[in-house]
Amino acid sequence: MQTAPLRPLGRTGVEVPAIGIGTNRWSYGANDAPVLETYQALIDAGGGFIDTAEIYGFGKSERLIGDCIRKDARPVFVASKFAPFVARTSARHLTAALDASLARLGLASIDLYYVHFPFPFADLGGFADGLAETVKSGKAKHVGVSNFSADQMRRIADRLQRSNIPLAANEVHYSLAHRHPETNGVLEACRELDVALVAYFPLASGRLTAPPADARPDKLDAVRRALAEVAQAHQATQSQAALNWLLARDPRVILIPGATKARHAKANLGALEWRLTDQEFALLDGASAPTK
Ligand SMILES: NC(=O)c1ccc[n+]([C@@H]2O[C@H](COP(=O)([O-])OP(=O)(O)OC[C@H]3O[C@@H](n4cnc5c(N)ncnc54)[C@H](OP(=O)(O)O)[C@@H]3O)[C@@H](O)[C@H]2O)c1
Repeated sequence: MQTAPLRPLGRTGVEVPAIGIGTNRWSYGANDAPVLETYQALIDAGGGFIDTAEIYGFGKSERLIGDCIRKDARPVFVASKFAPFVARTSARHLTAALDASLARLGLASIDLYYVHFPFPFADLGGFADGLAETVKSGKAKHVGVSNFSADQMRRIADRLQRSNIPLAANEVHYSLAHRHPETNGVLEACRELDVALVAYFPLASGRLTAPPADARPDKLDAVRRALAEVAQAHQATQSQAALNWLLARDPRVILIPGATKARHAKANLGALEWRLTDQEFALLDGASAPTK
């Protein structure tokens, strides 16, 4: 049986690929050449949900994506993020940052625009008003937050609601190696508010599939063994099993595994060609205790 290839983006009324791609590493320089190949492999496989941010490579990731969009005009869903550093925390800063991101991407509007993290002591209302302004101006179709707590999500969602705009997503760290969203209230808040949970580091940057370089036992050994057992049963890969556990955890979860290689982007979308049995889900769930 397959996993549904599309998932709702919260209450926005749109559906997006359940598995997309994170592009932080696209900006590391050595990866420039394979970027278009990776981008095209992703779209060929049905995963055209592209996650970037103004701070990835100081704008280089957005520029590389803009180049890809110009070279391959097939529709994609693009998300980027505003970084609220010190002295850059007002609605005006957010709307100006979006203009700069759009220029780098070569787009007139972005599909999803996030506040990247909740800068300490910053006025959350200002962020919400800035996000609302981007939707009213037509420069963003949907808005979200990233690394926000359950309480911060509720405050932003309330303020956006005054403008009749739903909070679309909270992008947070979530994987079999890091289950904080289950214990810190974020997954519960996503369910309650009907907000998508976009999971970054879903492959724990490779730690779920490869043991540490020094081969010393670590707390993920049991998870890796369980992933290998499940993968073997489906003639699949451990990475696909790890992605399928996240997708089975909740229908609001959307994944953005990072990949700089076309074969990795394609393999990740391959996770949608099968799904975990209830027993396999329980095996993986039990091998990885929720993070306290
Ligand atoms: N909102 C935030 O604050 C925040 C923070 C961190 C990250 N993010 C986003 O999340 C994305 C994902 O993070 P990440 O890239 O660091 O970590 P990740 O998705 O957990 O892991 C990426 C690593 O796994 C490898 N990989 C990917 N697919 C694979 C496959 N099928 N088989 C084997 N290896 C595979 C990649 O290799 P290759 O590169 O060689 O393909 C890369 O080394 C970032 O790109 C970024 O967009 C957001």
